[in-house]
Amino acid sequence: MVDKLLKERIRSEKLLDRIVGAEDAAELIKDGMVIGASGFTPSGYPKAVPLALAEKAKKSDKPFKISLYTGASVGAEVDGAWAEAGIISKRLPYQTNAKIREKINSGEIEYVDMHLSQSTQYVNYGFIPKVDVAIVEALAITEDGHLIPTSGIGNTAAFVAQADRVIVEINKKKPLELEGMADIYTTKAPPNREPIPITHPGDRIGVPYIECGADKIAAIVVTDLQDSTRPLAAVSEKEKQISNHIIDFLNKEVAAGRLTKELLPLQSGVGSVANAVFYGLCESDFSNLTCYTEVVQDSMLDLLRSGKAVIASTTSLSPSPEALEKFEQEIEFFKEKIILRPQELSNNPEVIRRLGVIAINTAIEMDIYGNVNSTHIMGSKMMNGIGGSGDFTRNGYITIFSTVSTAKDGAISSIVPFVSHVDHTEHEVMVIVTEQGYADLRGLSPKERAIKIIENCAHPDYRTALMDYYTRASEVSAKQTPHILDEALSWHAKFQKTGSMK
Ligand code: COA
Repeated sequence: MVDKLLKERIRSEKLLDRIVGAEDAAELIKDGMVIGASGFTPSGYPKAVPLALAEKAKKSDKPFKISLYTGASVGAEVDGAWAEAGIISKRLPYQTNAKIREKINSGEIEYVDMHLSQSTQYVNYGFIPKVDVAIVEALAITEDGHLIPTSGIGNTAAFVAQADRVIVEINKKKPLELEGMADIYTTKAPPNREPIPITHPGDRIGVPYIECGADKIAAIVVTDLQDSTRPLAAVSEKEKQISNHIIDFLNKEVAAGRLTKELLPLQSGVGSVANAVFYGLCESDFSNLTCYTEVVQDSMLDLLRSGKAVIASTTSLSPSPEALEKFEQEIEFFKEKIILRPQELSNNPEVIRRLGVIAINTAIEMDIYGNVNSTHIMGSKMMNGIGGSGDFTRNGYITIFSTVSTAKDGAISSIVPFVSHVDHTEHEVMVIVTEQGYADLRGLSPKERAIKIIENCAHPDYRTALMDYYTRASEVSAKQTPHILDEALSWHAKFQKTGSMK
């Protein structure tokens, strides 16, 4: 048993005596520490040690708080269990878990919502307190004590480089065939930073392991816990309409000669709209597509499977549980077609601008001038975070935001006079899409944008009221970006008072 494990997963004999139980490894984590965890978008994150730590904290009556840094969202075994145990004081850069969200919004957890590519730099440049302990899920440890990552890379390399001690979870559930998919490349800090040599999404520029070294490895825990990836809801009719509008827009770009049938590398956010868009691409006339993105979900796997797409560069694989099972039977097929990079590279502004990425992300709400809110419900309640949407939108070749035109059964218009929180500004948002249609905002002044967004994207139930606001604002304010500021957010206030924007 030990022989097989040694040969396959822990390839340095001297590390065998560092195998311990999850409870013992959790003892290495002390009050006040900063913990850096592997993983990105419920994939490749540690599970056994975080669960053991949460149990320990629940049983202890000593105060215990830690800061948690990750790549992006991690599973309930970390965010959920630690939030429930009350041990997180600070969290960054992104989360999607209901329990931690509740504690962020109640004020118990300090949450730093960050551009994901910048989160690596904050660690590397020493802008934030340093990582004390990194907990890393790995497929294997090499002869030299380096870590072969599993299915989500995120910020792991930066955390391991900075941590004093590293706890490794060797996950036997993760197929060894994944080895070789990762391409780990790290950047230097200015003024020594060099150009990142990626000129095509398929370029491999690094090594297949995360540098660590045997000396840093303080404990090894062997587990077989599967990622709790999220099931995907079936594509709704409205999401299908959004997908059709995006494909219609892209077809027009091809007809205008601004794109070819191969398009340019695609990025898409997570969730069901993003999934619908990629299913739409599977049925489109485009071919030889490439993806330069941060997360691969079910439909992107289908795009690769069907041959419509030839390569996907990402930092994480996060298919639904069913799609994950299927993927694991076909790893050899996907190995040539998927590259897993650190998020500093998957989301890198320099590379995104060079490749000309088409960025497709989802909004909570958008306003008549093209500003987008991706993060805050009614301006103050955190949903998930900006994630990578800013990395791609600030730098993409074409930047698209979509949302269904109403929320809460029509009681909320997703197109409003002024967004209640701004994540993406009128300066970087190029195309807005709802199930009603799309508005191409490129080259339009704010006044021109307002009319186009109201006419093409707002739900008919809200069009008259939006046009009325715009017309009255145009009469009483300066004409560049007409507003009646004390009225601009009254739609949100009305919803809060009456439960409807109508
Ligand atoms: N006003 C108020 N609430 C709204 C709303 C609006 N205009 N639009 C949606 N909501 C509510 C929904 O009712 C839902 O509430 P519930 O949880 O109580 O049911 C919630 O917001 C989420 O809406 P939903 O339509 O299910 O969201 P989604 O799964 O399509 O995700 C984002 C949309 C914006 C939250 C998500 O894409 C995100 O977190 N984006 C930021 C990160 C990102 O873009 N990363 C990109 C790279 S992966």
